[in-house]
Amino acid sequence: MKFSKLITTVAVAFSVGTLATQAHAAKSKVTTPNSQHLTFKQLTGNNSHRLGTIRQLTRSQIATDHKLSGKQVQYLMALPLPHRLTARNFTLDSQTLTMHLTKNKLNVKIAKIPLSKLSGIILNRYLPKTLWYHKPATTNQKVVALTFDDGPDPVLTPKLLKTLKKANVPATFFEVGSSVIKYPQISRMVLKYGNQIGNHSWNHPQLTKIGKAKAIHQIAATDAAVYKATGTLPSFVRPPYGAINETIGAAFDRPTIQWDVDSLDWSYLNTPKTVNHVLSTTHNGSIILMHDIHPTSVAAVPSIINGLKKRGYKFVTLEQLIQKPLLSNYQYFGRNDFRNL
Ligand code: NI
Repeated sequence: MKFSKLITTVAVAFSVGTLATQAHAAKSKVTTPNSQHLTFKQLTGNNSHRLGTIRQLTRSQIATDHKLSGKQVQYLMALPLPHRLTARNFTLDSQTLTMHLTKNKLNVKIAKIPLSKLSGIILNRYLPKTLWYHKPATTNQKVVALTFDDGPDPVLTPKLLKTLKKANVPATFFEVGSSVIKYPQISRMVLKYGNQIGNHSWNHPQLTKIGKAKAIHQIAATDAAVYKATGTLPSFVRPPYGAINETIGAAFDRPTIQWDVDSLDWSYLNTPKTVNHVLSTTHNGSIILMHDIHPTSVAAVPSIINGLKKRGYKFVTLEQLIQKPLLSNYQYFGRNDFRNL
């Protein structure tokens, strides 16, 4: 218990008498402040992207812990959660960050996030040593991440999943909610085969052109569809056409995943041209954009995997590619290119 220690330290310092001694005593003795006195500013190292990530982890935790309905999941983006780094509405113990919520439609009062989910999100000094975040060691290994948009497709997506599995290659699928409700079993299969699912809106409008309320609904309805299909919320968003602005992006509270290699598969609709384009434009740390709704694209994947493997590339997840925790309200274009919204 650190609070009584703080009182003792300050009391001793006062009895010694000088301000300088007091400051020194406080600095050297009090290393872990009681969480009553912590703010998100301290917890996150003054980083609003990390606070946004904590907000989204809170939403995911509530969805799972309370077995929310699809309709309740659609409300999660409107849940009142702290936006100020000076806020103190949480408590921290050796295992859990407990968020204390203000009155809300879900009647949820607290959300308990295990600290194991917060490695790299809150500063190491507030975590048990076993959970400290360490930067991955740098290697010369060339890496690349595959992403597939606009599915799930009932025929092509399973075909692609088998190709990826056979080659032991992970990918991220940015799915549209209107297809997820038609083929929820395909979304489950995407996860079962070791891939990740991101949110690609409900029916693919340009989110920056339809107004904030509709844009939020596009993402919220897709969250609900993916959650109903798989029991989890998508951790990433890829807005259709990559079109995003600060107002809309801030409402998602998630990393926006862009790309730096557009396969142009949607334009070529030709397997050899798609393969050649990807092989000639990929570089170390690239995020490759493809679509699992065109037969010519899915047919291109085996040659793309073989070609890039021959050129020394390893296929990795987005987290492995970026080599640090992906944070809310940043846009990621590739390993060395991330930007504010
Ligand atoms: Ni798309």
